[in-house]
Amino acid sequence: MKNKEIYKKLLSYDPIDIGSLFYNKTKIKFFKLKKNKIPRTWKRIYFKIYPRFKQIKLKVNNNSFEIDSLLINRKSLRIFTKRKITFKELSNFLFFSAGINNKKTININESRRMYPSAGARYPLEIYLINLKKIGNNNEGIYHYNVKWNTIELLKEENCKKILSKVIPNQKWISDADTVLIITAVFNRTNIKYKDRGWRYIYIEAGHLGQNFYLNAEKLKLRCCAIGGFDDNIVTDLLRLDNENEVPIYAFVLGK
Ligand SMILES: Cc1cc2nc3c(=O)[nH]c(=O)nc-3n(C[C@H](O)[C@H](O)[C@H](O)COP(=O)(O)O)c2cc1C
Repeated sequence: MKNKEIYKKLLSYDPIDIGSLFYNKTKIKFFKLKKNKIPRTWKRIYFKIYPRFKQIKLKVNNNSFEIDSLLINRKSLRIFTKRKITFKELSNFLFFSAGINNKKTININESRRMYPSAGARYPLEIYLINLKKIGNNNEGIYHYNVKWNTIELLKEENCKKILSKVIPNQKWISDADTVLIITAVFNRTNIKYKDRGWRYIYIEAGHLGQNFYLNAEKLKLRCCAIGGFDDNIVTDLLRLDNENEVPIYAFVLGK
């Protein structure tokens, strides 16, 4: 194959591949379950142990570093106070979760972030659906611009009404200050890793999500991961093309 053809092949992307099939087949289906009808297998927490083998107790330090207590205290919180998140808190939350951590590099293509990314392809984007005014910034839809460390106002609007459609069956969410949506531009990674890239992208969302939890704990904010969002409504709300960029994870953040 000529170089030009190889390059064309490398750049080609078939959206009807295994990953998009997985994505589309796993779109959420909402159903209601009575409280006392929750199966036991949904509650029981499983551990794998080898009881007949020698057990070597680990020697763990007692919260000697800040990260230790952040990890110990991190939890999903779903009740918010009336106090509002400040713009400074939001700025620190976003930057220390997803910002560039080697800002002094001269070449932007050598920039790295607060979380790891396979091949430094950084397929994830972060959007904010602000339900309350944060600092001087009105309710609306924003995008975190990692390169310039800014939030970009995409649309000023009161998102409270649409919220019950974005995340149905979870009323507590309306008391939060903002809903963070993590989207994936799959092709940034898949162009290099092909089908294997699909795995990496979801793993990276987990890395970023843990940063959200730890930064929320550090800033005394309250946050909760949300898998139960309506993919199509979020896609429409953020005006995504549903092929190259799709929502994969969400977080609710309040105080
Ligand atoms: C992928 C994922 C999706 C989740 N989706 C939801 C959700 O839709 N609603 C919710 O209230 N909590 C959600 N959670 C939070 C879990 O319920 C929570 O992490 C779990 O109960 C353990 O509690 P902890 O985070 O306080 O340790 C989700 C967590 C993960 C990792």
